[in-house]
Amino acid sequence: MSNQVKIFDTTLRDGEQALAASLSMKEKLQIAFALERLGVDIIEAGFPVSSPGDFQSVRSIAREIKNATVCGLSRALEKDIDACGEAMSVAEQFRIHTFIATSDIHVASKLRKSQDEVVEMAVKAIKHAGRYTDDIEFSCEDAGRTPIDYLCRMVESAINAGATTVNIPDTVGYTTPTEFGGIIQSLFNRVPNIDKAIISVHCHNDLGLAVANSLVAVEYGARQIECTINGIGERAGNCSLEEIAMILQTRQAMLGLNTNIRSQEISRTSKLVSQLCNMPVQANKAIVGANAFSHSSGIHQDGVLKAQNTYEIMTPESVGINKNNLNLTSRSGRHVIKHRLEELGYKTQDYDLDTLYASFVKLADKKGQVFDYDLEALLFFDKQKPADEHYKLLYLQASSGKEIIPSATVKLQVGDEEVIESCTGNGPVDAAYNAIIKVLGHEQLDIVDFKLDSKGEGADALAQVSVVVEYNGRRFNGIGLATDIVESGVKALIHVLNNTHLADQIDHQKKQQVQIAGV
Ligand code: KIV
Ligand code: ZN
Repeated sequence: MSNQVKIFDTTLRDGEQALAASLSMKEKLQIAFALERLGVDIIEAGFPVSSPGDFQSVRSIAREIKNATVCGLSRALEKDIDACGEAMSVAEQFRIHTFIATSDIHVASKLRKSQDEVVEMAVKAIKHAGRYTDDIEFSCEDAGRTPIDYLCRMVESAINAGATTVNIPDTVGYTTPTEFGGIIQSLFNRVPNIDKAIISVHCHNDLGLAVANSLVAVEYGARQIECTINGIGERAGNCSLEEIAMILQTRQAMLGLNTNIRSQEISRTSKLVSQLCNMPVQANKAIVGANAFSHSSGIHQDGVLKAQNTYEIMTPESVGINKNNLNLTSRSGRHVIKHRLEELGYKTQDYDLDTLYASFVKLADKKGQVFDYDLEALLFFDKQKPADEHYKLLYLQASSGKEIIPSATVKLQVGDEEVIESCTGNGPVDAAYNAIIKVLGHEQLDIVDFKLDSKGEGADALAQVSVVVEYNGRRFNGIGLATDIVESGVKALIHVLNNTHLADQIDHQKKQQVQIAGV
């Protein structure tokens, strides 16, 4: 058996389906490029039949990605598989991933079918996928709670029907490592044609065991792990890519298994996903948390200074963390910025130097010194800026304090017009938001989430606000970045407004096209 474990990333599918607001096509592409650079073998790009937006995103990822197999998800239904095949027909290499539930509870309550009927549906779906590609993955949803005899029968039938990868998900994160390892071992012992396919695992983290279960599965012969960056995904998430990859790398001598992951890309990819998905990473998270490589106790610090391996089992550099935090000033030229970003691992195509440099100079004037974390915050922020700004912030004044009524005045450019409004609120951000709602003249915006995060160290750090707004039944994300918290909050809401404006324009164009077609 090969000692190569394939890394199947499902950040853009299982991860994305758990976000408060969907990612835009541009954001999905940015993540797909980062995953390609990280060295994942398969990128699950989405679920094409689920929406026209998902279909288009899968298609553009399939078109652009050259060094990983792009995969689309489908239920065991012909229309889903056709949507997948069509979306990915532009790819150099692609995989169709089809699934059906196999546990008693899912078969009886959700599918309301007999076990025989479910096997039949799976076989039919796999054969149908064969019209589009030879690379077919089949998943037995809720395999972790599926009776083992039925699971063996299903896996055997799927391989006979043409599945080249068979995935065994612990969909609800219920199994323990001994139990899950036992399932994989039984499959290898009992399914006669098991050597004709790669066995994959897809573990959820409801009991915090997703990584442990994935690890034990490869010890028993599985050779593909499905995982996500930062472990994002349904409910408590999926197996975390960075954790499983670093386990296999750090304990290679004991486990004897390899992956194609370029571990130095881990930190950057984690930051990008956290930023675009608006999902902060907890400080003590293994591998990518802010404290993962910092030593607090005096004894530990002393030990690490004497010999790094006293308390470090892997180096921060091995996951792409650069510990030298260079500080730049407004006198630092463009080439210095470019050089520093190169040292931090960013390529010129990751940012627009002119835009970034303009933001850098403004920030350097305000803060005096600009650190690496500031530069990265500016770079990520610039990436998320909308290309076309219908709403622009021209002026903001807010006041607050103890025993005064918070108030704000906001002047916005709305298209070609300039509009100014003032309002009070329960704090300066609330007052400014009330003023913006007055400018809009309607109250369709429902703010469902507001997060404030410091993007660096100290009281002068950049503040980032992320806002999720419900508008006409859809959710939109916006982020703002500034040294001033109120300004950051206002910019985040304006970012949302530009996104909703764009969505309105697209909807309007679609309606017109339908009308023209109907004439
Ligand atoms: O958790 C799960 O079972 C899934 C399948 C679609 C693979 O996400
Ligand atoms: Zn899942």
